Amino acid sequence: MTSGKDYVKKGFEDMEKWGYSRNPYLHHPLEKKKEFDSLFVGREKEIRNFFKKFVSGTHAFCIEGSFGVGKSTFKNRCFSEIKVEENRDVFNFIITDTISVVETESPREFLIDILRVTLDSIKPYREYLKEKNKKTLFEIENIVTKGDAKGNSYGSNIPIIHGQRESTSSTSVQPMNLLTQDFIINRLIKIGNIVREDLKARILITLNNLEKEKVNDQGKITTLIEMLRGLIFSEFILIFIGDLQLKSRLTSSGRLRSVFGESIELSPLSLDEFQFAVDRRLKYSAIKENYAPPLGDDVLEYMFSKCGGDIRWAFNFLNNVFEEIFLEDYPIRTYSLSDIEPICIKISRNTFNGLDTSEQKVIRAFSTIKSASPSDKKLQRACGVTRSTLQKILSDLSKRPELIVRGKRDRKQVYSLGYEMGILSDSENL
Ligand SMILES: Nc1ncnc2c1ncn2[C@@H]1O[C@H](COP(=O)(O)OP(=O)(O)OP(=O)(O)O)[C@@H](O)[C@H]1O
Ligand SMILES: [Mg+2]
Repeated sequence: MTSGKDYVKKGFEDMEKWGYSRNPYLHHPLEKKKEFDSLFVGREKEIRNFFKKFVSGTHAFCIEGSFGVGKSTFKNRCFSEIKVEENRDVFNFIITDTISVVETESPREFLIDILRVTLDSIKPYREYLKEKNKKTLFEIENIVTKGDAKGNSYGSNIPIIHGQRESTSSTSVQPMNLLTQDFIINRLIKIGNIVREDLKARILITLNNLEKEKVNDQGKITTLIEMLRGLIFSEFILIFIGDLQLKSRLTSSGRLRSVFGESIELSPLSLDEFQFAVDRRLKYSAIKENYAPPLGDDVLEYMFSKCGGDIRWAFNFLNNVFEEIFLEDYPIRTYSLSDIEPICIKISRNTFNGLDTSEQKVIRAFSTIKSASPSDKKLQRACGVTRSTLQKILSDLSKRPELIVRGKRDRKQVYSLGYEMGILSDSENL
């Protein structure tokens, strides 16, 4: 009988025949130094500008770009260059865990999140702090924690709760009713001063995923960020990541206008850069010299033309296509677009089948109407729903640009089919 171990071995052997150690179309935001060295392409000017901001004294700015253009990866790439130097004559930055704002969070919970990641970020440097400052931090931690659990890094007791940070690596603090917003901001500013004094460093906080598509209530985001004004004027640097209109939205009320520097706008990679990025991925996963690219140039060009700059989707789709080729034991060679068309349709069909009936109806309507807004009567009729229901469905669907994308026509907001639904519609399979 074949054992589980044999199956695993066979799986690896099959992949080896392709010449790779794993699916070579890697599709995660890059994080590690090795990944940047081997996989990252382009963006030199933007990286230079990122660092120029600190020298020019900018304390708050946005990284803006459309869906999947590479914002998180760019942020990680820049941060990977920032190290706290032993020699403290140069200026240093302490990077907190990145926060993703959640709509349901109260302002206080949001601030506690910020306080929590800030306290955590300083832990590795605690030995450099003056005794009195260690004590102050200890007190701040104690005020915001229930003193009943494991020992914390300053020698006190700190329980662990979970929060909304992107990484989940460390301990956190417990909210208490006594904490007012002013109180928390005040303590944060105090922490900023300590870090400035003892570590000659600034604290760098990033809020990610602020896109309109990801967080519907943008007014709330602005309100939350306005609370952080005091930090921007002290020793903190705040970076906000979202879509291309992020800065203008955040500063529309005026309160934040004067504190924001120019945004770093990430435009889509060029086709050449995309192809180069794919080449680098293949090489990175290859285990022998003469590995065959599983997918030909015409496939890459096609994906690129479909994705409108969203390389997150493009890499993800390539990954899925290869997985299918691999699972279905396709012979080892380079496949062209016409070879893999059925696979593209199959993947897109699965995505479509995963939607509920009302969503499918909307997608079908768009395959003939092409582009429309929820106020479009023809669209409402085709979908058999009211304007407000349609608005709700479209706003949900457009969170996933493979389904529906949001765009502008004559300054009006319109929706149209997303990448995968476009593939289905082109093949008349909807
Ligand atoms: N400069 C680059 N070089 C090579 N690969 C990149 C580059 N930028 C991004 N990628 C790849 O593109 C994909 C999308 O990147 P990332 O997740 O950073 O985009 P994003 O803009 O943050 O997406 P989202 O809008 O979903 O938050 C990832 O697979 C990442 O590895
Ligand atoms: Mg991202």
